[in-house]
Amino acid sequence: MRIDILTLFPAMLAGFLSESILGRAARRGLLEIVARDIRDFSTDRHRRVDDTPFGGGPGMLMSPQPLFAAIEHVLAEAAAAAAGSASPPVIYLCPDGEPLTNALARELATEPHLVLVSGHYEGIDQRVRDTLVTREVSIGDYVLTNGTLAAAVLTDCVARQIPGVLGEENSLTGDSFNDNLLAFPQYTRPADFRGLQVPAVLLSGDHGAIARWRREQQVEKTRRRRPDLLHKQQNTANNRET
Ligand code: ADE
Repeated sequence: MRIDILTLFPAMLAGFLSESILGRAARRGLLEIVARDIRDFSTDRHRRVDDTPFGGGPGMLMSPQPLFAAIEHVLAEAAAAAAGSASPPVIYLCPDGEPLTNALARELATEPHLVLVSGHYEGIDQRVRDTLVTREVSIGDYVLTNGTLAAAVLTDCVARQIPGVLGEENSLTGDSFNDNLLAFPQYTRPADFRGLQVPAVLLSGDHGAIARWRREQQVEKTRRRRPDLLHKQQNTANNRET
């Protein structure tokens, strides 16, 4: 899979892309992630990329010209590299997009190529959104100073769904949100740390009892923290029965 990230701050992504599981996936050829500086596509002689909003209002907006040029450049490259295949989704990261979930990440992980657009200032000119952007995604109900971290979050979340990226030592099966339940508590050695004991059931070797205990913990934690998920979980279970 290839992911192009269009940003005003490519340096923010350098460590994120080279370290840890994403870095390993890139070295193993499972993933190619390219950060591109939107400023490089500005035709302004001072490389300006923003302007004041028509109609007034605070702050600055990203102008259409550099964004059109950057996105069209990446799409032309994609068309040349994979002639005849569908154009990749162009995803704009913004607080007013559809919420990022594991389900959305799984869907996006089936694409061979994604183009992520991160905004800055008060946002981007609406004509970019109306014309070139095919999907808008928010990483949560809060506002960041720019979309680069949001693009990094989406990239990480999608990448770990690609077969082979997590390797054998990590797996997707115990993830929070699978089955609409939060994850159960986990412990490792020693069984007694400063008098803090690991729950006895986990040392019992009784796999049935361990599975029941974990499920109870998941349901209880989800009930306390995210009752909205539990309603979804019950609906899913009901649908399975009927
Ligand atoms: N840009 C600024 N805030 C954001 C958010 N919550 N999600 C995605 N992109 C953003």
